[in-house]
Amino acid sequence: MNQRSATNITWHEGHVERESRFALLGQRGATIWLTGLSASGKSTIAFTAEHLLVESGRLAYVLDGDNIRHGLNRNLGFSPADRTENIRRIGEVAKLFADTGVLTFTSFISPYRADRDMVRKLHEEGGLPFIEVFISAPVEVCETRDPKGLYAKARAGQIPEFTGISAPYEAPLNPELTIDTAVLTPTQAAERLLGYLRENSLIS
Ligand code: ADX
Repeated sequence: MNQRSATNITWHEGHVERESRFALLGQRGATIWLTGLSASGKSTIAFTAEHLLVESGRLAYVLDGDNIRHGLNRNLGFSPADRTENIRRIGEVAKLFADTGVLTFTSFISPYRADRDMVRKLHEEGGLPFIEVFISAPVEVCETRDPKGLYAKARAGQIPEFTGISAPYEAPLNPELTIDTAVLTPTQAAERLLGYLRENSLIS
């Protein structure tokens, strides 16, 4: 699905520079890509960080796996090919959001290294920051939390290809940041994330 199907299409350059949009907003766009197991804390951290940023006058937005699968990606399941397509689409959407100047958080398991690397490359080629954040929690911890009861269902054989149980998760090898949620609370984790953005001049 990564091949372009359309022919006879031409890129149309707009009249507004990215830098003009960034100046208008008083901030620079970036994609902050959270990856980790289900129940590792990705969405909670992303929504907390979004809240803190908006409260401090910055435009941030979360693209969340479960939410996006209600709409844009509702036709995708959890086969390896569908997960790859899920991440490809969200990589493209995040890049568009970042190009507008939004601090864009993505909260997807995104279990395959190659898919995340593809999104990184997309951003690098487009001259936009891509920050990979590994939300790290052992599967045993995630399974104990099990807020949606999915690990229990997966153990009972009711969910095929469940990440961490019957489908793989490939942890990042060189993430920009690792956050251990077995140790930090969601608020501490979000603060840590914003600390990274500040230290690296992604926010002022
Ligand atoms: S991804 O692997 O394609 O990146 P994504 O983050 O969009 O996954 O969706 C994961 C969410 O879907 C989980 O948090 C969980 O609520 C739900 N889910 C349902 N079935 C599965 C499954 N087989 N594996 C993992 N998550 C699943």
